[in-house]
Amino acid sequence: MSNDLFEFFCPVKVISGLQALANLPHEMDQLGAHRALIVTDKGVVGAGLIKHVEAAFEGAGCEIGRIFDETPPDSSNVVVNQVAALYRESKCDCIVAVGGGSCIDTAKGVNIVITEETDDLMKFRGAERLKKQMRPMFVVPTTAGTGSEVTLVAVISNVQAGVKMAFTSDRLYPNVAILDPRMTLTMPPKITAATGMDALTHACEAYYCLQKNPISDSLAITAIKLTLANLATCVENGSNERARLSMAEASLIAGMAFSNSMVGIVHAIAHATGGVCHVPHGIANAILLPFGMEYNLGKSAGVIAELAPYFCGRDIPGSDEDRARAVIQAVRDLGAKLNKLSGMPLRLRDAGVPEDKLADIAKVAVNDGATVYNPEEVTFDEALGVLRRAY
Ligand SMILES: NC(=O)c1ccc[n+]([C@@H]2O[C@H](COP(=O)([O-])OP(=O)(O)OC[C@H]3O[C@@H](n4cnc5c(N)ncnc54)[C@H](O)[C@@H]3O)[C@@H](O)[C@H]2O)c1
Ligand SMILES: [Fe+2]
Repeated sequence: MSNDLFEFFCPVKVISGLQALANLPHEMDQLGAHRALIVTDKGVVGAGLIKHVEAAFEGAGCEIGRIFDETPPDSSNVVVNQVAALYRESKCDCIVAVGGGSCIDTAKGVNIVITEETDDLMKFRGAERLKKQMRPMFVVPTTAGTGSEVTLVAVISNVQAGVKMAFTSDRLYPNVAILDPRMTLTMPPKITAATGMDALTHACEAYYCLQKNPISDSLAITAIKLTLANLATCVENGSNERARLSMAEASLIAGMAFSNSMVGIVHAIAHATGGVCHVPHGIANAILLPFGMEYNLGKSAGVIAELAPYFCGRDIPGSDEDRARAVIQAVRDLGAKLNKLSGMPLRLRDAGVPEDKLADIAKVAVNDGATVYNPEEVTFDEALGVLRRAY
């Protein structure tokens, strides 16, 4: 069941398929942009992926004005301001993010700073603070997890305060998302596993969170089916192009779902765990997802139970709670399989979180915007309880 009134919005053109990247210069031209600032990171450059981007520009009427390849994990407000200065200095007229969520969200932050003609990203923290038409933005994801190429949110760390800040606006949607399986082939198994679990978390949270609606539901189910069918294959055999493209699509579709339905307790605690202890976002979600789903059983067992046919391959007899618990067990089974294949941790203690930081994480988590959309209320004691169980 959904709310009586809902909105759904996703104004992003999607181009997906083998060699899809070749379309990038044409898409820029369509939006009147001809000189790109590429936002990427050392891992993406080291994997040899920028050469595919450079090849796409050969002989095209568009050019690369500058490549910024020092995006840090989780981005940061300081880096965003630095990259915005490069954009101005290099006289670029659009932004192309080539990377995982850290690069994409940095690029979104840069777009805010340039468009709003500010030097202080922090002024625009929160929801719907952006009033101007943004610069053209193109995204080529190289991980399959965040879905940031089709979402209205940028998650950027405030390094001074040790918190991850969210910026949300209908203006933050990129213009074009390009999924090309060549760009995710090089992801190492553990990053493949963890980012894929981020996508699965988006889909699950989209399905049970308060702003769910019939459109986000159908996208969430498709993303769940694609993830369950392809994630372990990508971890086991990274060079399988079909499975890689399907995971890239799963991630994008889950992004479309959660950008509208929002996410809940798992993301609230994962953001806080990332901010306080620098645990990668996908790993934090992979660990917390079954515990967050259990936390929501009281109000959402019936909704989670609807996912049983997809997670269990058949519907499960019994009460809503029995069927929902079978779904959660399937999530745990997938985690265990990925742990075996890649070493992806399943407990916070194995992800480098000191036990004495759990209370600090819980404190940050209760102030995260994602708690608003979680079916059950999230208090400090309850967030701490979830963290202890996941420890
Ligand atoms: N805006 C959103 O909608 C949204 C949603 C979820 C998460 N996020 C944010 O995204 C960030 C995490 O992004 P992420 O999980 O994609 O990880 P990431 O961008 O931090 O990348 C992880 C690592 O993988 C490497 N890498 C990326 N692609 C590769 C490839 N193809 N081959 C080899 N190495 C590669 C990178 O160099 C990096 O070292 C977090 O800050 C999180 O909060 C944003
Ligand atoms: Fe996420």
